[in-house]
Amino acid sequence: MGIKTALYKLKGFYKFGKTAPKLRGKVFVNKFGAIKVGKNLSIVGHPWAVQITSTMGANLIIGNNVYVNAGVGIAANKEIVIGDNVKIGPRTSIFDSNYHRMDCADKGELSKRITIGNNVWIGADCTILPGVTIGDNSVIAAKSTVNKDVPNNVLAGGSPAKVIRELEIEDGWVRD
Ligand SMILES: CC(C)(COP(=O)(O)OP(=O)(O)OC[C@H]1O[C@@H](n2cnc3c(N)ncnc32)[C@H](O)[C@@H]1OP(=O)(O)O)[C@@H](O)C(=O)NCCC(=O)NCCS
Repeated sequence: MGIKTALYKLKGFYKFGKTAPKLRGKVFVNKFGAIKVGKNLSIVGHPWAVQITSTMGANLIIGNNVYVNAGVGIAANKEIVIGDNVKIGPRTSIFDSNYHRMDCADKGELSKRITIGNNVWIGADCTILPGVTIGDNSVIAAKSTVNKDVPNNVLAGGSPAKVIRELEIEDGWVRD
């Protein structure tokens, strides 16, 4: 391990504890609830800072080999589960809460669980909205807004995101 990687890991240890992710640049971690992180998490906080939040009573669970690019915001107010080998493109937001009510008739849950499957690639500038599940191996095209579940093994895109086509995924294949 080079000196730079060791320093990135030291920073990761300071912010996340014993799994010691590799953190570069500015990574703000607001840990009021649970944050559980797997092996080999890598976060790039430059040229745009990354913000990761788990509010009181919330769960943020991140699997193994997850890559979080610059400018990403992840905020768990209830629960966000991110699988293994997930790649999250620059400036993407994953917020499981609406935070604000729309009007007086809006009395539902503000926060709903988000699940992102294994081997998912989310492109740049996407917004993943509360309550959504993205299936294993799927790809979310750049600048998409995901407001409904996305099945396994598809390319989905647009705002709101729709399935564009099926992907050819062999058993055990992991996207590089
Ligand atoms: C998803 C992506 C890989 C698709 O690439 P592609 O080779 O053009 O895919 P396809 O040729 O299979 O395109 C299929 C359809 O999806 C549409 N499409 C592609 N990207 C789209 C997007 N971001 N939003 C909406 N529709 C999109 C194409 O226009 C095409 O539609 P058509 O069949 O009506 O012409 C690419 O567009 C993309 O978004 N890459 C993300 C890049 C990125 O964010 N990088 C940052 C680092 S993670």
